[in-house]
Amino acid sequence: MQARDTLGRPLRDLRISVTDRCNFRCVYCMPKETFGRDYEFLPRNELLSFEEIERVARVAVGLGVTKVRITGGEPLVRREVERLVEMLTALPVELTLTTNGTLLAGKAQALASAGLERITVSLDSLDDATFRAINDAGFPVSAVLEGIGAARAAGLPVKVNCVVKRGVNESEIVPLARYFRNSGDTMRFIEYMDVGATNGWRLDDVVPAAEIVALLDRELGIEPLESAYRGEVARRYRYRDGTGEVGVIASVSEPFCGDCTRARLSADGKLYTCLFAVAGHDVRSVLRGGASDDELAQRLAAIWRIRVDRYSELRSAATDAEPKIEMSYIGG
Ligand SMILES: C[S@@+](CC[C@H](N)C(=O)[O-])C[C@H]1O[C@@H](n2cnc3c(N)ncnc32)[C@H](O)[C@@H]1O
Ligand code: SF4
Repeated sequence: MQARDTLGRPLRDLRISVTDRCNFRCVYCMPKETFGRDYEFLPRNELLSFEEIERVARVAVGLGVTKVRITGGEPLVRREVERLVEMLTALPVELTLTTNGTLLAGKAQALASAGLERITVSLDSLDDATFRAINDAGFPVSAVLEGIGAARAAGLPVKVNCVVKRGVNESEIVPLARYFRNSGDTMRFIEYMDVGATNGWRLDDVVPAAEIVALLDRELGIEPLESAYRGEVARRYRYRDGTGEVGVIASVSEPFCGDCTRARLSADGKLYTCLFAVAGHDVRSVLRGGASDDELAQRLAAIWRIRVDRYSELRSAATDAEPKIEMSYIGG
């Protein structure tokens, strides 16, 4: 059964947050003032077990899901996450994981051996001072580069994601693109989004994708590529000299709600049908209440069928003021 929402959009992608914790305090995601020592993270017994997560994913596959991304918080801080990877590789889905890379050097081989197909590593700057200012937890760039190296050595194709914030790291766009263009890794630049309520987002802080593309073209020479499939969020470009590809994700300046096929499962088992959702649907109580797989499928399908979300297309001063869920909780 293929689940479709009120706008006819199919359910295809499931993003699973395995923890709301993180060893970084990125200024645009978990700023220290809010997520310092006193912030309350979810207690262990509220987290879904790997068995519960696998069950939701398996049932979601029956509703049309073909892609699963493990994320967080920082997914590699969840103990033995490679065990979950192994469980999910038994499903007929494209499986990937997004990480800040700092624990990857020690985990890459285990993740690859467990069957992970590829990995996305976030890296916002190659300049150490800028990178430390962004992660606000004292991590050097070298820790992430080491992680990327380990992933490559383990045979995992790597995508590198950089969130661009005006006045913070726009000067890093060209150096990052240059660094990764001959590496075989795909570099992607992401517009800074108004997720959550703690990052003090302002439209002025967004460097629009068109500006990023113009800069890359001027400095390195790029031309657009056809998108690989419907609903692909990254606009793809190739270097004119044939040295690889680069992508840009224009979630703010050119929203793609019309093609959005994603659902997100939070670490405590709430299903969100939009990154900008105000509330999630409780799936954990269904899992722990003795429901059969069939009943679980019906519940998930019912949640998807009533979906009306298109926040990014409706973004306005009014929506800005609405309370929103943090990215670290819902899963980026
Ligand atoms: C929430 S993180 C979770 C996974 C992992 N901790 C990481 O950083 O890759 C997933 C992605 O969301 C991005 N992100 C976080 N806050 C964002 C924001 N306000 N706008 C755009 N992207 C954001 C991060 O840069 C990262 O690439
Ligand atoms: S973006 Fe990722 S690494 Fe940075 S604070 Fe959020 S969850 Fe942690």
